[in-house]
Amino acid sequence: MIVLGIESTAHTFSVGIVHDGQVLSNVRKTLTTTTGGLIPAKLSEHHMKVFFDVVLESLFQAGVAVSDVSLIAYSRAPGIGHSLRIGAGVARSLSLRYDIPVVGVNHCVAHLEVGRVFSGKDDVVLLYASGANTQILAREGGAYRVFGETLDLGVGNFLDTVARLLGLGFPGGPKLEVLAQQYSGPLLDLPYAVKGMDVSFSGIQTAVRRMTDDGVEPSAIAYSVQEVVFAMLVEVSERALAHTEKDCLVLGGGVACNKRLQEMCRMMCDARGVSFFTPENEFLVDNGAMIALLGARVFAESGAVAVSDADIDPYERVESVRC
Ligand code: ATP
Ligand code: FE2
Repeated sequence: MIVLGIESTAHTFSVGIVHDGQVLSNVRKTLTTTTGGLIPAKLSEHHMKVFFDVVLESLFQAGVAVSDVSLIAYSRAPGIGHSLRIGAGVARSLSLRYDIPVVGVNHCVAHLEVGRVFSGKDDVVLLYASGANTQILAREGGAYRVFGETLDLGVGNFLDTVARLLGLGFPGGPKLEVLAQQYSGPLLDLPYAVKGMDVSFSGIQTAVRRMTDDGVEPSAIAYSVQEVVFAMLVEVSERALAHTEKDCLVLGGGVACNKRLQEMCRMMCDARGVSFFTPENEFLVDNGAMIALLGARVFAESGAVAVSDADIDPYERVESVRC
């Protein structure tokens, strides 16, 4: 079965094509900035501008025609309404024009499932570290259960804010990673905010704001922010592994591209004698292939939805989804 997956929850418009679980193409266009952050109206403008080329390029790279596609999957939740509406609109249009069934999936479940399925392990603890989300989860009773999460902003959005304070553009996480590698001095004193199984970033953000006002060296800030917040994430992940007695940690979401976070997770897992897995970068950031992969499963289990019901939900929580 050939599935065309559409991703448009936030900054990225992407189309991935998957044939019986095998990824044939995964084309992405992301709105970036050189200094400021993201404005919702600009996101829909961007997605409207690029969607046609992304669909065509993805079909071309996969070597398939629209008439070969058996299912359209799109991310219906959660995300920014302005962006979600473009993906849902493209999915509905393709479905109506070519008479192809359509399903909507949850973006967070897609981030989690692509890692879990590619890891080859069924029963794992997942650290989902992305822009809007930071959660430690495991699958139980046909749904993901959240053991711990951020009490304020997602780690990616936090890193993007730090980058913005340092005058860097969006996405800021990769820019901070490069900057952090240029520093070899002592760790700056930042708050360490783990509360039970939860984490918090707002206090660190305030401290960083003060440091930037005081003219502290940007690379020292980038290095220290990474060391402190990644240590917090590794601590709660380790506690989840200890509580659940599971033997594998899967790291997912865009921030999982960070080599230092991967290294710290791997060190902790080695020390505990459990395995560690993270997918390739193209499956960590927002991408259409993960939507197509999950869409195939949702369709097999529940069938398609009527085009008139192919809606969006900006606020759906991961644990409310059966999977
Ligand atoms: P969510 O999945 O929670 O809805 P999102 O879709 O915006 O959020 P992703 O596309 O999964 O998030 O990830 C984007 C985030 O990942 C951005 O905040 C970006 O700065 C961050 N990121 C990407 N690469 C890196 C990196 N190398 N180091 C740190 N952060 C990174
Ligand atoms: Fe995402």
